Amino acid sequence: MNDSEKLLESEERIHEFEARIARGEKIEPGDWMPAEYRKQLIRMISQHAHSEIVGMLPEGAWITRAPNLRRKITLLAKVQDEAGHGQYLYHAAETLGATREEMIDALLTGKAKYSSVFNYPSLTWADMGMIGWLVDGAAIMNQTMLAHCSYGPYSRAMVRICTEETFHKKQGMEQVIKYARGTPKQKEMAQDALNRWWWPSLMMFGPHDSNSPNSAQLIRWGVKTKTNDELRQEFINKMVPDLQLLGLEIPDPDLHYDKASGNWVSGEINWDEFWRVLKGDGPCNQERMQARRAAHENGVWVREALNAYAERYEH
Ligand code: 3HC
Repeated sequence: MNDSEKLLESEERIHEFEARIARGEKIEPGDWMPAEYRKQLIRMISQHAHSEIVGMLPEGAWITRAPNLRRKITLLAKVQDEAGHGQYLYHAAETLGATREEMIDALLTGKAKYSSVFNYPSLTWADMGMIGWLVDGAAIMNQTMLAHCSYGPYSRAMVRICTEETFHKKQGMEQVIKYARGTPKQKEMAQDALNRWWWPSLMMFGPHDSNSPNSAQLIRWGVKTKTNDELRQEFINKMVPDLQLLGLEIPDPDLHYDKASGNWVSGEINWDEFWRVLKGDGPCNQERMQARRAAHENGVWVREALNAYAERYEH
């Protein structure tokens, strides 16, 4: 086939691929897909998986300091769920041809990203409630959208993950309500946690649509069905009335309600901070990477034992 025939063939194939997505069909691992579609999904799914695994660290630090057995068991269950979500998502990325080694190497060498929200410190027990309600609440908003994603394995992983995230959000909400209606000290702790987690949670939805290099293609190919700003606005509209009902103050002096659109209009996110944390200069980036590198190092013997077993008994 000469170059122009190849070009025509690939244009026809992309046209048919996009027609499949327009019909609402799911693209499965063995189906033909543009190389760029595969590349985008490996990027997005592997970074989603990294976020789940690194996301275990801020909460894991509080398991041994939970105020009672019930809270300890709940937090333990949540952190274990996140580990499972990470495995789910690494597997989904592997269906596209990515290897676990490549993905983990990309994380540990700093080539791959994970959600910047996890580069902030969890300073008090009240953070456990606020992370559950805000961070997992934002994740649910994003992941509910992704459950409609055009790539079969990713959308199906989202259905399972969203079910568990709903428990994560509810347990967080319950804690924040208890603190906001508790002693003055407890309410002060809830407000302090809100002050520190509100803006990093808004950043989870990504840069403004006008500054989102990946969104146009992801929307065109049905990976994203809503834009970064649309989801962020839905999150703000949901969260503001609930938090204000508890007598908590949103740490945004420019926040105001716009009657015409029915939206709570947020002040501007500090995008310098956003990009600075993405580049590795956040409060906990070093600590998070050290923890992941140490875990990987300490796990060498497990991987060697599993590979030896597979060599001996599975070939
Ligand atoms: N943290 C870190 N990086 C971010 C980011 C954030 N909050 N928001 C955007 N970025 C990065 C993107 O990865 C991209 O960089 P890259 O091209 O090198 O990967 C760059 O900033 C530009 O952003 P775009 O908007 O162009 O990127 P996307 O179109 O991929 O949108 C996204 C970003 C909304 C995070 C999208 O990738 C997405 O929906 N990912 C899947 C969901 C996910 O990863 N969620 C993370 C949280 S998981 C979680 O919270 C676990 C829960 O259990 C608590």
